[in-house]
Amino acid sequence: MKILFLSGSRDRNGRTAGSIQTIITGAEKAGAKTESFFLPELNLQHCRQCDANGWGSCRKEGHCVVEDDFQMLVNKIQESDVVVFATPVYFRDLSESMKAFLDKLRRISAFNPDPKTKGISAVGLCMAGGGGGGAISACMYLESTLQMCRFDVIDMIPIRRQNFEIKLPMLELTGEWLVTKPTSAAE
Ligand SMILES: Cc1cc2nc3c(=O)[nH]c(=O)nc-3n(C[C@H](O)[C@H](O)[C@H](O)COP(=O)(O)O)c2cc1C
Repeated sequence: MKILFLSGSRDRNGRTAGSIQTIITGAEKAGAKTESFFLPELNLQHCRQCDANGWGSCRKEGHCVVEDDFQMLVNKIQESDVVVFATPVYFRDLSESMKAFLDKLRRISAFNPDPKTKGISAVGLCMAGGGGGGAISACMYLESTLQMCRFDVIDMIPIRRQNFEIKLPMLELTGEWLVTKPTSAAE
């Protein structure tokens, strides 16, 4: 069982990182292997909207023509059972690095008959560390985009600075729960 964590924050001591680390604690306790990347540290260029019609070759071919760290992350996603997308809330929305990465990921997966994301579970986490506004709206956008990317979205977690401490035990339990391979399939 492999769980991949993608952080949209560059602060390795921040609350998004703290949330990730707490889920990792639970997941590793339950036997998972984990790996984390901080998106702002990587070379991730924005989508160039190739071709006059705006579609580009990525829709059918499943890879981006730009040579950056995008394909490395897509390979990591493909090797994972679960991917946790954790972003700080900026302007009531996802962080720029998370948005830029998902902009490209949906390009190669949304209309691909055999997307690289198929059958992989996803969890979204939005950490609003100011007044707390925007955690829910960011989660709504993130859930919709992850579904567009064809993940099986199994949980969305809004957190505010004001309730961060009380959510930590829940995050650790979430890590343990992920190892049970939950799916969104109806009973
Ligand atoms: C550009 C920017 C925009 C932000 N916008 C919001 C916001 O809309 N709502 C909110 O509650 N916090 C907002 N914040 C605060 C961040 O959500 C907060 O700093 C968060 O803890 C960052 O996560 P980190 O500690 O993992 O870096 C903003 C911070 C920045 C830098």
